[in-house]
Amino acid sequence: MVKQPQTFDAWYVKSSYQDFVKQEGVPLYEGSALEDLAALPLGDWERRGGKAAYTRLGEQEIYNLQLVEIPPKAELKPERHMYDAVMYVMNGRGATAVWQPGEPKQTIEWEEGSLLAIPLNAWHQEFNSSGSEPCRMLFGTNMAQVINLYRNLDFVFNNEFCFRDRYSFEMQDYFSGKGKHWNLRLYETNFIPDIRRLTLDPYPERGNRTSIMRLAMSNTSIGMHVMSASEGTYVTAHRHDARAHVIVIEGQGYELLFMPGEEKSRRKVRTSPYAVVAPRTNEFHQHFNTGKGDYKMLAFRGSGLRYGSGRNYNPALTAQDKDPYSKYGFKIAYAREDPSIREDYYRELAKNNIPHRLEPVEQSGG
Ligand SMILES: [Fe+2]
Repeated sequence: MVKQPQTFDAWYVKSSYQDFVKQEGVPLYEGSALEDLAALPLGDWERRGGKAAYTRLGEQEIYNLQLVEIPPKAELKPERHMYDAVMYVMNGRGATAVWQPGEPKQTIEWEEGSLLAIPLNAWHQEFNSSGSEPCRMLFGTNMAQVINLYRNLDFVFNNEFCFRDRYSFEMQDYFSGKGKHWNLRLYETNFIPDIRRLTLDPYPERGNRTSIMRLAMSNTSIGMHVMSASEGTYVTAHRHDARAHVIVIEGQGYELLFMPGEEKSRRKVRTSPYAVVAPRTNEFHQHFNTGKGDYKMLAFRGSGLRYGSGRNYNPALTAQDKDPYSKYGFKIAYAREDPSIREDYYRELAKNNIPHRLEPVEQSGG
């Protein structure tokens, strides 16, 4: 006889995703910022070999990160899954084999800076090609959302359905790295050998000498971008729903986090590669470059780029762009931000002997 739960709490399943992470036997990291994903302690990962950890950042369970390390000369066991996953390599070098059932394997070689999108439910297997160094990567995924939605790991990890419309060996040059620059700030591709060297397009709406490239990869529903704040500059604050993850991939700086109206008690997170910030819903976030050269970030965005959900692309932001920004709209223009934010930034630059390259506040747009 099935034992009936005696209380609501005994009956209620708070999070199938968190139950899954417990079952994996590896750490779960929470909060809205982590200082260094490349140095975070991972746990032994029996299911695939190597080491792993998971995140639950920004108080949401839609997107999460999966951190993975493979020892020298080792490999992970193959897997497939019904969630999207995009891999960024934080250190080391290796290769990933990708295949659909009954088709030949394709092998993609990668190293630090590489970004590879795994097609949905395709088999894949990762190898470390170094004989002496471990390699560590992060996967940006919607695993948390998918596991909470279906609550059945057999469905998620052992599903026969083949999305040949998304990827097939027949699709020529799929992982060659030859992408399409569709229009301003939009690039479609499946593999980028080093995103730190990717050419970005200007993005003056978000700050002086800020540039960006939005990425649509492997027909996944995860949208990404690479953004750069050049030396001596910072990006204007903005806010949105929780789930976006910003990973610092190059340079030195800091991130500010504050809820609307709470600039005075803002949180300052010092950042360098590979810090991550995942703001909570409506939490303003703002990127500051305090070092030499560019400050670059990889962002897993709140929504896909090509595959939307039936509404116009980001209508709130579009309406906001046509108007002078209200102080607590979706963005805070330089001219409307708390003056102490810029004053503090100038002090930070002076400490590092770097001149600022910002226009005076009155003359600046976005
Ligand atoms: Fe954001």
